[in-house]
Amino acid sequence: MLEKGIIEPLPGQHNLNDYEAQLKSFSFSEVEKEFSWYETGKVNLAYEAVDRQAEKNGSGTALYYSHSDGQQENFTFQSLAGLSNQAANMFSSLGIKKGDRVGIFLPRSPELYISFLAAIKLGAVVVPLFEAFMEDALQDRLQDSGAKALVTSSELLERVPRGELPDLKHILLTGENTLTQQVINWWTEVNNASPDFTSVWVARDDPAFILYAAGADGKPKGIVHVHECMVGLWVTAKWVHDLHAGDIYWCTADPGFITGIAYGFLAPWLHGIPVVVRGGRFNAEDWCQTLSEYGVTVWYSAPTAFRMMMSGGDELLQNYDLSALRHILSVGEPLTAEVLSWSIEKLGQPVYDTWWMSETGMNIICNYRCLKLKLGSIGKPFPGIETSIVDDDGNELPANRIGNLAIKAGWPAMFRNVWKAPEKYEAYFKHQPWFVSGDAAYRDDEGYYFFQGRVDGLINTAGERVSPWEVENKLTAHPAVAGAGVAGKPDNLRGEIVKAYVVLNSGYSWSDHLAEELRNTVKSELAAHTAPREWQVTQAIPRTADGSVDRKALKTWAMGLEQPE
Ligand code: WT7
Repeated sequence: MLEKGIIEPLPGQHNLNDYEAQLKSFSFSEVEKEFSWYETGKVNLAYEAVDRQAEKNGSGTALYYSHSDGQQENFTFQSLAGLSNQAANMFSSLGIKKGDRVGIFLPRSPELYISFLAAIKLGAVVVPLFEAFMEDALQDRLQDSGAKALVTSSELLERVPRGELPDLKHILLTGENTLTQQVINWWTEVNNASPDFTSVWVARDDPAFILYAAGADGKPKGIVHVHECMVGLWVTAKWVHDLHAGDIYWCTADPGFITGIAYGFLAPWLHGIPVVVRGGRFNAEDWCQTLSEYGVTVWYSAPTAFRMMMSGGDELLQNYDLSALRHILSVGEPLTAEVLSWSIEKLGQPVYDTWWMSETGMNIICNYRCLKLKLGSIGKPFPGIETSIVDDDGNELPANRIGNLAIKAGWPAMFRNVWKAPEKYEAYFKHQPWFVSGDAAYRDDEGYYFFQGRVDGLINTAGERVSPWEVENKLTAHPAVAGAGVAGKPDNLRGEIVKAYVVLNSGYSWSDHLAEELRNTVKSELAAHTAPREWQVTQAIPRTADGSVDRKALKTWAMGLEQPE
C-alpha cells in the first residue's frame, strides 16, 4: 500500500470516527463542559490537570518516572496534588504571586513537574529552560522574562549568571548546595510546607508559561501561553492521540520545549492518563526498554529519534516486547518515507504525523486514525481550526500551489503575546485574519497539506529550532571571523544540520583547530545542538539590499544548488 503512497484508514472504533462530520460542526465551546470551571467559573490549568484528577481518581498513577542511572519513582495524582501544593506554599512564602515569572532549569525529574504545577497553581508564570542551555541562552531568557525565582539543580547552577540578573531574587536548588549559601533547598522547604493550598483562580487568558523560541532574525521570542490552552490540549489528546482509560502515554520530548509541556504531561493529565518520563540521555536500547517495561500504549516522538532506533536494526527490536504499543505519533520535522515503512513493517502500524509550532500551543494539522494517510503529508486541519495557504500579500492560494502555511487566528491554545515585544506578536498577524507560520506548504485537491520547509531561514536540526542569527552573532564575536552566515543543510539522520559559512579576518587561516574552537564557542555559550557541524570558508556572505544576511541565497548554498565563490 505504501508503494502508492497511501495507507488506508485503520478499521475499528477511534475517539474520532467521522472527521468530515466534525469538520463541519465541531466548535471548541463544546468541550468547555469537560472542565470544572464550566460550572464553577474557577479556572486554573494545574488544578484541572492534577487536583481535579486526584478528586476523581486519587490513587491513579500520574507519573512513571525513571532515569537511566537506575532511579525510579511513581507518583499518583493524589501525591502530585499534595507535593505541588507544598511547592506552591513554598513559592508563596517567598513572596511569589500571581503574574510573577518562575524559571525552571532542571533535567527531566519529578521536581521539574512539581515546580511547574506549583507555579501555575499560584497563578505565576513558568519560564521553562531546556537543561542544555548555557550561560548566554539562560541570561537572555531570565533577563527578558524578569524571572523572580529560579528552580535549578546543583549541577546546572554554575551556568546561571546570577550576578547579572537583578530581578532574580530566589534560587531554589533541588540537590546539594556546594557553590553558595545564598540558595534555598527545594526539598527541605517543600517538606516543611503545608500540603493544603487552594489554587489561585485566574482568567482564561491569564498567562501560564512563557516559552522562548528561536526567531530567524533576533533574540529568542517569549511565546506567551495562557490557561485556556487546556481546551485545545484536551480535545487533541482525545481525537489525535486517541487517549482512552488504561493508556500509558509516553511523549519523549523534553519539557524545555512546547511538545514536552503540552503533550508531555498537560494534555494526558487533563484526561487522567498516566505519563512516562525517562531521564538521562537518548539511547535506542534504553528507549525500547522503557517502551516495553512500562507497556507504553501511545507514543509521541520525532523522526530523528525513530531513525536512531532504526539504526539499531532488527536485533534491537527483537529483544523487546513492544506489543502494548497501539498508537504512534510524530512531530517536529518531516516524517520521511523510510520511517513510515519501518514502523509499518517492524512495529505493525503507521506513525501519525502532526504539525504545529511553539506558537500554536496545540496540534493543528494532523493525521487521524479514521482517515487515510498520504505519504509525505502532515495531514488535515483539526476540526474547529481553519488553515490555508496564502501568498506573500495574504491572499489565499488554490490547491497545489506552494505558499505560506497560515491559520485563522482564534484557536484556543494560540499564544497570546510575545513577552515585552507586542510588535513581534503583531508581525505574525499582518495579514488578518491569518497567523502566518513561517512554513512553506501546499495542499492537494483533497485538502491534505504537504510541508515544504521554512521560508525564513530558521533551522530545524533533529526537531530542534535553531536561530541562524544567534549562531552568526556568536561566530562573528570571535577575532578570526569577519562575517558569518548559517543555514540548515539537508541531512539523512537529523533532517538538517547547522552549516556555517565564514569569512576570515586577514591574518587568520582555516584549520581543524579553529573549527573546533568556533564550535566550542557556540556550544559553551548557547547550547550544543546549535553548534555548526559543517563549515565552509567563503569570500563574502550574501546580503540583501538592507544589509541583512540573504537567507534564500545561503539556503541555495546549503542545499548544494549553488556554490559560494
Ligand atoms: C517548526 C516549529 C510543536 C512542534 C515541535 C517543534 C517544524 C513541526 C512538523 C512536521 C515537518 C514540522 C515546522 C514548524 N515542524 N512539525 N510534522 N513536519 N516540520 O516546535 O520548535 O516551535 O518548531 O517545526 O517548521 O514551523 P517548534
